[in-house]
Amino acid sequence: MNQHVNGATEQVVLGDGVDLRGIKQPELNLKLRRLRDRDLPAICALQNKVNAELVADGHGAYVVVRREESFAAHLEALGVMLGVFDGERLVAQSLMGLPPRADSDHGCDLQPEEPADKLVVMKGVLVDAAYRGNHLMQRMGEVGLGLARLRGRHQLVAEAAVGNIASWCSMLALGMRIVACDEAPSDHEPLYLVRRKVADRPAQTVQRYLNPTQPWRVQRKTFGTDGYHGVWYRGGQIGLAAAD
Ligand SMILES: CC(C)(COP(=O)(O)OP(=O)(O)OC[C@H]1O[C@@H](n2cnc3c(N)ncnc32)[C@H](O)[C@@H]1OP(=O)(O)O)[C@@H](O)C(=O)NCCC(=O)NCCS
Repeated sequence: MNQHVNGATEQVVLGDGVDLRGIKQPELNLKLRRLRDRDLPAICALQNKVNAELVADGHGAYVVVRREESFAAHLEALGVMLGVFDGERLVAQSLMGLPPRADSDHGCDLQPEEPADKLVVMKGVLVDAAYRGNHLMQRMGEVGLGLARLRGRHQLVAEAAVGNIASWCSMLALGMRIVACDEAPSDHEPLYLVRRKVADRPAQTVQRYLNPTQPWRVQRKTFGTDGYHGVWYRGGQIGLAAAD
């Protein structure tokens, strides 16, 4: 599996791209490849479309909206962006931050435990609504994990709004673990900090999740070093299942 992830990552990072089949829509013939400056207009268009839909649904806090200059700066500063294409159409994207120095800004609201230059930070993941259900976030995350291995980084980290189940379910399916929960200083949105140590074995099982029937109740808490990879809901409460 590791060899496969690294092989696919090299292919994507070198620009060749890899073919993906849809899971929910097996008829789709998608290609995952690294994004470049020439893709900036499509990157902004996809972000703005997805964000407008989130805002209309009352979930505007799920994504940080970036300007074209911010994406361009990310691409210039060692960062990698991944995109999934249906023919010529960009249908999913994510940023993989590779902070250059130990004291660089890692861009997370919650504090990861490793110095910034030991991290790959997965951010700004978006899938066009018509293409969701195909595990495209998970597939991009696998490449991020391969990137961490290739570049000698110790962890893949990401943050997800607690209410954004599709986001953190995708992270848990990647073998990442929830290691902290707190409010974002900027907007007080409850957030999970989620990470996968490169050296970790992949999670053996991923639990099934139920939608909460009651409003979210989140405890402000830092979790143990092993983190949690399972979350359940009962009577409106969230429970976290210890890893392995
Ligand atoms: C988050 C996002 C990128 C995930 O897209 P995706 O890769 O298509 O994810 P999928 O739809 O394949 O879902 C992944 C898993 O979450 C599960 N899931 C999704 N929504 C769920 C819900 N409301 N309740 C329970 N499980 C849910 C899916 O069932 C799937 O798990 P399974 O295959 O084991 O059933 C996409 O929903 C998105 O673009 N959202 C808007 C932008 C956003 O929130 N970005 C995240 C920023 S951190």
